[in-house]
Amino acid sequence: MLNIADDIIKIAETAARQAGEIIINKKGLSSFSEKGNNNLVTEADYAAQETIIKIISDKYTGHSFIAEENDISANINEPDLWIIDPLDGTNNYAHQIPHFSISIAYARYGKVEAGVVFDPERGELFSAAKDMGASLNGKRIAVSRASSLQEAIVATGFYYDRGEMMKKTLSSIEKLFAQNIHGIRRFGSAALDLCWVACGRFDAYFEYKLSVWDFAAGLLIVNEAGGCCSDQKRNQLTLSSPGIVASNGILHNDLLDIVSWDNEF
Ligand code: IPD
Ligand code: CA
Ligand code: CA
Repeated sequence: MLNIADDIIKIAETAARQAGEIIINKKGLSSFSEKGNNNLVTEADYAAQETIIKIISDKYTGHSFIAEENDISANINEPDLWIIDPLDGTNNYAHQIPHFSISIAYARYGKVEAGVVFDPERGELFSAAKDMGASLNGKRIAVSRASSLQEAIVATGFYYDRGEMMKKTLSSIEKLFAQNIHGIRRFGSAALDLCWVACGRFDAYFEYKLSVWDFAAGLLIVNEAGGCCSDQKRNQLTLSSPGIVASNGILHNDLLDIVSWDNEF
């Protein structure tokens, strides 16, 4: 018999896979517009979101939603809350760069209990349920064992800001290179950046500003894979945190010594 977490994960997976199909079918055909400076949105974002919300609300009447392309937004502390990024990596998608994802999290009273991130280009489905571990296409995943920054690949992201936050990100990258890290990556989907930390492809990831839909599912997937997430001020990561620092845990303090920042936007 399925327990509740299994049931929730199953619906999230179905919704993510169907959204993935829509997104792939619209690839190259979907025109884009700018919501804000360099912040793009396409028809695929809206169509994928509509499908995800329909699948979930047909199954669970009375649940609440925070979804990126919605005008209405529920309170973060709702008892049954779904947090959705229907297309994470829209900039890549609009430029036909095959690296983007669908992120769906289920939270109770401000704590994520289940999360799914689907990469439709690679057919990779990451999922996690609270205290049940994290998996990739059904196989258990774990964070890397890198024990020093000298062995690390570190991912990052830039918010749409081209001012102070961008400068701070660039200076943190420079300081990381001074530690002789293996490399920096900026791939353009925060949800996948987190999943790639969870499965050990990246050793760490930081970004100074994200929205809750970018990281809600990924944070549980990292934690359940044995990693660690905080905000940039060294506080525990919550759904209201401004930005995120994630790692395999072993590197966390070393990383924070370099990238921590008291500012928030
Ligand atoms: C963006 C991506 C990107 C990150 C941005 C996000 P979107 O999400 O996750 O990697 O750097 O901060 O806003 O707009 O493609 O859903
Ligand atoms: Ca996003
Ligand atoms: Ca998005």
